[in-house]
Amino acid sequence: MQLWKGRFQKELSKTTNDFNSSISFDSRMYKEDIEGSIAHSAMLGKCGIISEEDAAAIGEGLKGILADIESGKLVIDPEAEDIHTFIEGELTARLGDTGKRLHTARSRNDQVAVDIKLYLKKQIDEIRKLVKELLEVICKKAEEHAGTVMPGYTHLQRAQPITFGHHLMAYAEMLLRDLDRLSDCKDRMDVMPLGSGALACTTYPIDRSITAQLLDFESVTHNSLDGVSDRDYCIELAAALSIIMVHLSRFSEEIIMWCSWEFKFVELDDAFSTGSSIMPQKKNPDIAELVRGKSGRVFGDLTALLTVMKGIALAYNKDMQEDKEAIFDAVDTVKMCLTAFTPMLDTMKVIPQNMRKAAAGGFINATDCADYLVKKGLPFRDAYKATGELVAKCIEMGLTLETLPIEEYKNVCDIFDEGVYEAIGLEKCAYGRSPVGGPNPDNVRKEIERVINIIS
Ligand code: ARG
Repeated sequence: MQLWKGRFQKELSKTTNDFNSSISFDSRMYKEDIEGSIAHSAMLGKCGIISEEDAAAIGEGLKGILADIESGKLVIDPEAEDIHTFIEGELTARLGDTGKRLHTARSRNDQVAVDIKLYLKKQIDEIRKLVKELLEVICKKAEEHAGTVMPGYTHLQRAQPITFGHHLMAYAEMLLRDLDRLSDCKDRMDVMPLGSGALACTTYPIDRSITAQLLDFESVTHNSLDGVSDRDYCIELAAALSIIMVHLSRFSEEIIMWCSWEFKFVELDDAFSTGSSIMPQKKNPDIAELVRGKSGRVFGDLTALLTVMKGIALAYNKDMQEDKEAIFDAVDTVKMCLTAFTPMLDTMKVIPQNMRKAAAGGFINATDCADYLVKKGLPFRDAYKATGELVAKCIEMGLTLETLPIEEYKNVCDIFDEGVYEAIGLEKCAYGRSPVGGPNPDNVRKEIERVINIIS
């Protein structure tokens, strides 16, 4: 039954009702809807807009509805128009005329906006907790591998030696920014729209600060049109979630590569891999692939929200009902991905000897060889050129810089002496990169400590 029936002579057709209804996806906000209504009725009572007795009865009635939904005694009607209508209808069924007073000085437009904000603020806290759990696992693994040498890449070509701990901590930096983005988003969301009414506030003498305080909002919105038609907070959260997915997707991509026989830097635990129905030898990184794939959903949700909002005249329009499925899907997907990803990383076995082997090929100490000459007084450009010639020589002879005889070095540049072999040792090259932000193991440990301090 629609609450707005007064001027209508006919019932909605079944298809129109189904098309118009949002109960299948907004029922998840039942708790926030009830919290918002309890605060609203208390404020109406305090301001003398309804009697204190009615306010108290409404508050108790709503608490009863909440308890009954949670115990399963009251089932949310899938035929209802939306969660707001359902709860108000149930309250009226229980309290009669008193229940009908709840919607005084309120519209579903400010009601839905406050519900979404209450719901998303809680979700942001949950997501931040999941991101922190992932950060803890990253720090733990990075600590174990602070000194593990691996090749660093550019263009997916072996570039310079780094430590695996350093590589992992790059993701910690990304996730720290994600944490900040989530709290920024929550702060900007923390402004209460209730009291904006349908679009133009109300003539009742409401006190919005009472409701804001009861609902734990930092402040109230300052324009009623914007209060009901703003969905920046959904877009902003979807953007922050999309960036998290970019990070998880890149991390997944690397894990997928590292699992392959071409790399074999890591092995995923059996609990986080799947087999093939035909190829008995296969162990596939499906979880990482799914996380990478699900990034597309979240980017799609962001695009959907931007597109829904871009052409809507002020203030509320029904288009905006489309906000919920998109932002809820983004929230659910990110939570699911983080929940799957963290234990996968935690149980991932690292194979340092394969990383070391890969680091020993591909001339990743060529920059260090050039730097050796620079430290002996040669201008960098000349040192670069001489080292390039040495690499060409190694390729021709099937050798590495470590195994190339000293005579060959001297043929290219007579400044070389035996000291070059020490200078291009992989550990020395990786550990020697010690300015702040570098792969040196002590640096990595310092960064881990910094991150742990931030998240605890
Ligand atoms: N279910 C609606 C939504 O999610 C609630 C607001 C309805 N307001 C209205 N004027 N029809 O947007």
